[in-house]
Amino acid sequence: MFDHPDFDAHEKVLFVNDAQTGLRAIIAVHSTALGAAAGGCRLWSYAADADALTDALRLSRGMSYKNAMADLPMGGGKSVILGPVATDRREAVLEAFGRAVDTLGGQYITAEDVGVSVADMQIVARTTKHVSGLSAEAGKSGGDPSPFTARGVRVGIESAVRARLGRSELAGLSVAVQGLGHVGMYLCQELHEMGANLVVADINPARVSEAQIRFGAIGVSVDEILTQAVDVVAPCALGGTITEYAARYIRASVVAGAANNQLLTPEAGRILGERGVLYAPDYVINAGGIIMVQGEISGDNDADLIRARVDAIGPRLDAIFAKAKSDNVITNEVADSMARAKLDAARRMRARIAA
Ligand code: NAI
Repeated sequence: MFDHPDFDAHEKVLFVNDAQTGLRAIIAVHSTALGAAAGGCRLWSYAADADALTDALRLSRGMSYKNAMADLPMGGGKSVILGPVATDRREAVLEAFGRAVDTLGGQYITAEDVGVSVADMQIVARTTKHVSGLSAEAGKSGGDPSPFTARGVRVGIESAVRARLGRSELAGLSVAVQGLGHVGMYLCQELHEMGANLVVADINPARVSEAQIRFGAIGVSVDEILTQAVDVVAPCALGGTITEYAARYIRASVVAGAANNQLLTPEAGRILGERGVLYAPDYVINAGGIIMVQGEISGDNDADLIRARVDAIGPRLDAIFAKAKSDNVITNEVADSMARAKLDAARRMRARIAA
């Protein structure tokens, strides 16, 4: 475990096996240096258990970096429930998951992620209070964080387009959106309202039809979406879709989307950089959801205030793009070193306080 390539000094990794309900889950707490480790719960059927562990570790570290870069007083963690979960067992499994979260006594705060809904989190909330992403009250943020994530991605695309194409508006720009789930569909709506032209793909044809009808999007196959002749590619499906192969054949000038861990390998990022494709580091551009969740956790959740905080993703990316250009370093490496510096400073501060 400690030699796992993605272990990266995790503070704690909890493996849960609940014989009564059949729950099998992994809760990874990467860092609590900046506060309680916050990050969603993913329910997914992995090809192998080892893939679930890798996913949990990579996503958890990503949350530490994401929260640090968004200047949130929260650490990073993530959980995965190993699917499939039969419909008639789902409620019991989610309650058992809540009990597992509760054993960490608030070190980890869960929320929804891929495969888990607001309604699921209401069930988790029966057995632990360390849960967010519950239903919103009127005039407050809360519930599904996806609209805020999509807003942040749109703001991030604007920043990337300014930096790479020298354009200040999205009108007339073409964007290929990979994945039309919670975030992808809201993102299409935002981009459509700003006059962008959309090319879309999803493994679910009904979602493609919806985007065609609502936004006049052009639907293409999932194998072709990343290599469309467009200005921007926005990966909004699962992580790891920017393989080294894809990085060589992407024709867009910008890659900027919501998915976590978009680059399958560090080499994929280097190839994009060498080819002059500007990559918006995923955990910086997709922080809108966690910014909303943090507002909900702290009770500081006026929707206008949260939107203003999400919009700060734009200037944050402007600074990363400027530093990458001036230092001739790729954008994800700039973001990683900024995030690590923030975490190291928080760890040192905590050690000083403890001493
Ligand atoms: P979702 O599960 O609602 O949507 C994912 C969509 O991608 C589904 O419509 C699915 O059919 C489609 N898809 C899966 N494989 C595909 C493929 N190979 N090609 C094309 N489409 C494919 O998930 P959600 O919430 O929209 O999240 C999308 C991504 O953004 C995930 O990677 C998630 O971790 C990340 N993210 C989501 C946040 C949120 O607020 N929901 C926050 C930050 C990151």
